[in-house]
Parts: sequence; structure tokens; C-alpha cells
Amino acid sequence: MTTPDLRGRTVAVKVPATSANLGPGFDTLGLALALYDELEVSVRDEPGATVEVTGVGEGEVATDESNLVVRAIAHTFEAVGVPLPGLNLRARNSIPHGRGLGSSGAAIVSGIMAAKGLLDGVVDLDAQTLLALANDMEGHPDNVAPALFGGLTIAWVTPEGPRFKKLIVHRGVSPLVLVPETVMSTALARSLQPQSVPHEDAVFNVSRSALLVAALIQSPELLHAATEDKLHQSYRASAMPETDRLITLLRENGFAAVVSGAGPSILVLGSDPSQRLAAARLVEESAETRWQPLMLAVDFKGATVSRVADESGATRTDTPAA
Ligand code: HSE
Repeated sequence: MTTPDLRGRTVAVKVPATSANLGPGFDTLGLALALYDELEVSVRDEPGATVEVTGVGEGEVATDESNLVVRAIAHTFEAVGVPLPGLNLRARNSIPHGRGLGSSGAAIVSGIMAAKGLLDGVVDLDAQTLLALANDMEGHPDNVAPALFGGLTIAWVTPEGPRFKKLIVHRGVSPLVLVPETVMSTALARSLQPQSVPHEDAVFNVSRSALLVAALIQSPELLHAATEDKLHQSYRASAMPETDRLITLLRENGFAAVVSGAGPSILVLGSDPSQRLAAARLVEESAETRWQPLMLAVDFKGATVSRVADESGATRTDTPAA
């Protein structure tokens, strides 16, 4: 392909936070939440990249080509065979890092969506390709699928690449995320998992995750029964003891509480909005450290990208990933 002229192009991207696993749906189920990282990317004449970060990660994340968002843009350009132009990035982040709310998946999706916008009219990146590119970098699809497509997603991996199904969540479902001050590394959490599990535990999770899909889209009153898990949370509990203790307490009090992603945040799936306040109060009264309660709506749209008006007068319309 001849090198396209991308000079003057600027795109704006918005990507939601996500909570993966949702209890039994390990590496499969994910929910998009209305808390966003925003990004603006402009093509510049000089090669290389600069990154300006405000909000979460300011002064902490890399601001050169090693930045995860820049790497995701580079990965996408490389995949479609277009040379990477020089770039200026401005990120405004709200998704907490290292807390199990999909911040690395959001960074990867931000870069891939920015590349989609910058390559508009040059290469068409469809939903499946976007998911495959994101999964290449993240290693499992359960955060990047809802970050890309919004709502509740079921993601699975085939020899031909990852696939997804997006579902619309019942309007009674009311997520509360409780965010501690401590962080957890996904790599460490994954290293605590055994290579194999008892057959009855696998059956236990198959039944609960099938039920969970029904609970989330149709029968929120089943959320407590549907969020039980035997595949990952107990193996990781020693690495996040207060998370484990508070989840036990919340569940004993009738709340559908699970570890959000690899933790250490807690996700409570209320079956109506009033449950969130009661769950947040219980944690405030019982926790030994500070937990920030975030009452978040489900995001139904997923990631969007738009061309920012330039000298050529391009208009701004949000394009979703699917
Ligand atoms: N399914 C993943 C895990 C989500 O629990 O390890 C975190 O990235």
C-alpha cells in the first residue's frame, strides 16, 4: 500500500471502564461501566510520540513510545501495513489503575480505536478485527470486549481468533464498585491459579455462569445465586484478604458481591438501585481501610472515536466499535 497522507488528522476517543469475570464467568464475561478514559491523538510532522496525561496515571505512566496506548496504535498500524506517523497524545484518565477495572484493557482499546479513526477512509477495521488486535495485547478478551462494545459481553476464543456476543443488561441491575487504596497485579493473581480444577468445581461454574447471563438480562433476583464461583476467587484470596473478608460479609448479607476482574476492587451487582447504598454502608462500617464507593451505570455504547474538525472542515461524529 502507498503511504497514506494522514497529516492534520486528529481523533478523539472515549473508552469505558470494565469489570471482568463477574464471579463465575472467568475470562469470559465482562460488563462496561460508565466511567471513562478520554484521549485525543494528532498526527504531527516529526516522527516519534509524546504523551500528556492528566488525571489517573499523571506523573506515573510512560510518556514516550513505550506508553501502552502508543504501543496499541503502533500494533494496529503494523497489522494493516501502514507506517506509523509521528503522534501527539493527550490522555484524560478516570479509570483507577491496578484495581480490577480494566484500565490496561481501556488503554489498549483507546489506542486501537484511535488508530481506527486515524485510518478512516484508508483501512476499514471491523468489530472482529478490533477485538483480535486488543486480545493480542491483553491476552484474554473479557475486559477488552465490553470496553470495545459496551453492555454485557460474552467473549470466547476460537482457533480463528476471539469472538463476542453483546447483550443488553436488565435495567434493574445496579452496579456498585468499591475501590480500595491497594493495587493488585493481574499477572500475580493469575499465577495463583492452579493448572487444573476438580470436575465438580467446573460443573459448579458452568451452572452459575449460565444462570448469571439469565440473571443479568432477565432475572436480577437471581444475581446472588448466579455470582458464586469456584474457579478463581478462593485461590487469589490470600493476596487480597480484606477484599475476601468484605465479599464474604456482603454475600452473607444478601448482596451479590464478587471480585472485580483480578481485584482488589469489589463489584456488587444490585438487583435494584437501593441495594447499592446499603452495600456501601455495610462496607464503610466494616472495613479496616478506606474503600471508595462508585455507583456506576452500565455503559451501553462501548468505545467511540470521532474525527476532530481540522482545516479541511471535517465534522465530528462518534463512531462506535461495532
Ligand atoms: N479474567 C481476568 C483475570 C481479568 O481474572 O485474570 C483481569 O484482567
